[in-house]
Amino acid sequence: MLMASSQNWDPQTYARNARFVSDLAAPVVELLAPRPRERILDLGCGDGVLTAKLAALGCEMVGVDSSAAQVEAARGLGIDARVMDGERLEFDAEFDAVFSNAALHWMRRRDVVIAGVWRALRPGGRFVAEMGGFGCVAKIKNALIDALRRRGLDGEALNPWYFPTVADYCARLGARGFFLEYAALIPRPTLLPGDVGQWLSTFAQSFIAPVQACARAELIGEVEAALRPHLCDAKGWWADYVRLRFRATKRR
Ligand code: BEZ
Repeated sequence: MLMASSQNWDPQTYARNARFVSDLAAPVVELLAPRPRERILDLGCGDGVLTAKLAALGCEMVGVDSSAAQVEAARGLGIDARVMDGERLEFDAEFDAVFSNAALHWMRRRDVVIAGVWRALRPGGRFVAEMGGFGCVAKIKNALIDALRRRGLDGEALNPWYFPTVADYCARLGARGFFLEYAALIPRPTLLPGDVGQWLSTFAQSFIAPVQACARAELIGEVEAALRPHLCDAKGWWADYVRLRFRATKRR
């Protein structure tokens, strides 16, 4: 993923705690409707597991990610993966599609990202993506912010995520000249493979990093206790995900 500075991605931890991210990508892949021999950029390819699935459909895939460790894992799957910041895409009119799953919400300079995607696409090319949308993980984020406030820290200032409304993101796409074909905000409570503490350690490092290492377990325990009545049931722990999914075309 492309990320804020105190967020690190370890491919093994990611495979253990975050495999559901690529496993749940079927709807956005369907929206992409990839065809064999199309050249497609996977923006924020992570460990390349989903990129490899698209390659197996016959697409010519290039993956970019700002995490060198994730790029190395993607290369291990045979992907042409490159370490590149999503805010500094270096492509010019060479892709039939730019695809992104669960990565755009890590990129703060949204208009710069959209402009880079525009440049990377051939005229008529499509930008198809799913990201966290407005309200995503709100319960988790609020519990974190409350726990940090009790420690005198401003959690909102540590927030690395951008979860836009449909209107916000579509206005930005339109301002760059994209023609919007589809956009929707989709609540998708997601059953986690482990507990919410493991989710926090994987995805919420920016909130946790400013707390002294010896006090982090206590912080996580406190957040877990606050969330248990809302996000834990007989099936296990849930994250209150909301997806923003869209498909837009670069006008010819
Ligand atoms: C998401 O994919 O929606 C997401 C990922 C990390 C943190 C929050 C949300």
